[in-house]
Amino acid sequence: MIPHSRPTIDETDILAVSSILKSGNIAQGDMVENFERELAGYIGVKGGVAASSGTAALHLALIALDINGKDAVALPSYVCTAVLNAVNYVGASPLLIDIHPDTFNMDVEDLKRKLTPRVKAVIVPHAFGLAADLEEIIALGIPVIEDCAQSIGAAYKNKMAGSFGSISIFSFYATKVITTGEGGMVVSNSEELLRKIRDLRDYDNKESYITRYNYKMTDFQASLGLSQLKRLNTFIEIRRSIAQKYHNEFKNICSLPVNHSKDSKHIYYRYTVKLRCDVESFLKLSKEKGINCERPVFKPLHRYLNLSGFPNTEHVWEKAVSLPIYPALTEKSMNTIIGFVKNTVAGL
Ligand SMILES: Cc1ncc(COP(=O)(O)O)c(C=O)c1O
Repeated sequence: MIPHSRPTIDETDILAVSSILKSGNIAQGDMVENFERELAGYIGVKGGVAASSGTAALHLALIALDINGKDAVALPSYVCTAVLNAVNYVGASPLLIDIHPDTFNMDVEDLKRKLTPRVKAVIVPHAFGLAADLEEIIALGIPVIEDCAQSIGAAYKNKMAGSFGSISIFSFYATKVITTGEGGMVVSNSEELLRKIRDLRDYDNKESYITRYNYKMTDFQASLGLSQLKRLNTFIEIRRSIAQKYHNEFKNICSLPVNHSKDSKHIYYRYTVKLRCDVESFLKLSKEKGINCERPVFKPLHRYLNLSGFPNTEHVWEKAVSLPIYPALTEKSMNTIIGFVKNTVAGL
């Protein structure tokens, strides 16, 4: 089976992790601090706080912004349930927003139409590796949480995604562009927000009591993260070269992903195409042929919540599939995928 995602782990990663395991200091320590410093430096922000997952990072971000049950939080419908879960963890009401049918990012016009004074934060995921158009969203004056779970290394207006929001979060889950197995990070330019988040992440040895969390990352995860971060730019180059090959092969048979919008350039965390044939049949056939293609989002959030009025999200959900793309993809697998897509699209 050609997997849909696969981490790129080499000997330097294995050595980095094993040296920490041998050291005996395996919980949160110096390596976590190094990883926070390096990632914040790469993104170009003041600081970072590592967490146990991207979801934990989002949860901490919402608490740090004082979001609670009186508030609403805007987020797109076309995103995984982790984002909705974080909004629910703080008891806020989710306000679902439609997406743009080409970029798959939040539709700013729909956001503007739906905004109410209750909306105290907007979570803006950069969908599948293409930075969202942040300028107009930031101009609304509501705190923005950039969700860079899928877009580490993507740029917007020549600055890194993750350097614009009040707070930004990352995920290092096994399928992500760089991985620590499970893991996440919050970054910000606000010392005050970073201090709050650092305090909330760890419950131990505190003078006063408030509800805190055990959302820490371990040092052996952080040392894997540091080792992966050194190769991030290479990973992105390889992803872009695979995408270029897919573009050339598929340009006449399906709608290609927007490879750059006005101000942003794709890193191809996912290679998403809109098919002219039936998606369900395509996915079934792909599995029969040993290729694990998937829907980019398993199910849009408005469908879980039984809401209607998301025409673009519905259209994309009905038409889009995600093809395997990652640095560990072999030339042979790539050619198998290309042959399969060409034959199947012609036949269905
Ligand atoms: C856009 C987005 N946000 C948040 C998350 C949550 O990250 P994690 O799985 O590390 O909790 C994901 C995970 O896939 C994601 O895609």
